[in-house]
Amino acid sequence: MSSNYLDFFNLKDDPFRLTPDIDYFYNSPEHSTALLSLEYCFKEKEGFCLLTGEPGTGKTTLIRLFVDKWKDRAEIALIMTPRLSPEEFFLAVLEDFKIPLISRSKNDQMKAFRDFLLKHAANNRRVAIIVDEAQQLPDTTLEELRLLSNLETEKEKLLQIILVGQPELRTMLGSRLLRQLNQRITVRVELLPLTQAETSDYISTRLTHGGNSTLPLNQQAKDLIFKLSGGKPRRINLLTTRTLMSAFLEGSREVTVSHVNKGAADVMACEIDEEEHSAEIARRRKRKSSYFGANPREKRSMFTATTVIIVMAILFAAAGYACYYFGIGFPTAPPQPVAAPIMPPPAPPPAAAAAGRISSAGQSIQSIRSSAKPPLNVK
Ligand SMILES: Nc1ncnc2c1ncn2[C@@H]1O[C@H](COP(=O)(O)OP(=O)(O)O)[C@@H](O)[C@H]1O
Ligand SMILES: [Mg+2]
Repeated sequence: MSSNYLDFFNLKDDPFRLTPDIDYFYNSPEHSTALLSLEYCFKEKEGFCLLTGEPGTGKTTLIRLFVDKWKDRAEIALIMTPRLSPEEFFLAVLEDFKIPLISRSKNDQMKAFRDFLLKHAANNRRVAIIVDEAQQLPDTTLEELRLLSNLETEKEKLLQIILVGQPELRTMLGSRLLRQLNQRITVRVELLPLTQAETSDYISTRLTHGGNSTLPLNQQAKDLIFKLSGGKPRRINLLTTRTLMSAFLEGSREVTVSHVNKGAADVMACEIDEEEHSAEIARRRKRKSSYFGANPREKRSMFTATTVIIVMAILFAAAGYACYYFGIGFPTAPPQPVAAPIMPPPAPPPAAAAAGRISSAGQSIQSIRSSAKPPLNVK
């Protein structure tokens, strides 16, 4: 028996690797439309362009393909880790474009960048910044990007910017703070998951590319993979790998629905592990969370919350002091008469005691308090 599932299924390469490998690019109608929109944005020098999609729908794969297509006609800075401050971001862009850092002054750096843009515009070469996972960009860095996009001549934009990210990026851009940037986005593309028929075709295409166009993965199995993956290529890859593994472990060259179910159980078990792992990391972060450890957005909200609490405390204290000063207050209980020290009544003459007029010392104290009159001098 073969020692691994690739040999077992006569595959010369792992067809469902989780890498944005453009050799395996499947040109679905969604991917094709998205690619054409990016091309339009570039050709027409539209300035800002937005590509969004759920995780695993193929955004990174698509921009890798796009960069590959344009690499001889354009200068492209591809920023993959965008959790950067405006200064860090600008330096990363300069580094990607290989613009030498001749000075630490921002003005000089801006000038060098502008010269770079003008030089390439004169040669009719596009210059673009593509930011992947752009939903992680701090607002201040998005604003910096907007300022960079202002670099233009009277006739054309000198810089094209493509923001790529998850659907929450659209929500972020809809905020009041970023409305100026949002208004500049002229091309918006949403990458949708594959349909059932496309999923089936995607699996067959990848298997063929991997070296086996006749692998018996029946239609029901493919349909179940579609149902479980929602048509998202990353999940299709994950599920199909586990499905093939499960068939291989059983020594079955026929791949059926039962192998998909076993593969799905494996994937789910891994996801539960991952979820627990992420929850643990979140718990640790929470324990460690401090103002200095927070990112700029968190710092801003912590600062706002603290400011609100301090302002409210000051207002409250001022109101309290004003009430005290002007004598305004809550109704209080009526002042209680101060009970004079109570002297034990002198012992009644034997005759009175005998008549029962004063029965005990306790009874006489009670009567003094309730009448709120000067103490009786019981003689
Ligand atoms: N059009 C496609 N053709 C081939 N494989 C794709 C395609 N789209 C996505 N994939 C596969 O799915 C995986 C996840 O895609 P990726 O581009 O990383 O998604 P996203 O960036 O949207 O999270 C990639 O590793 C790639 O193998
Ligand atoms: Mg991605």
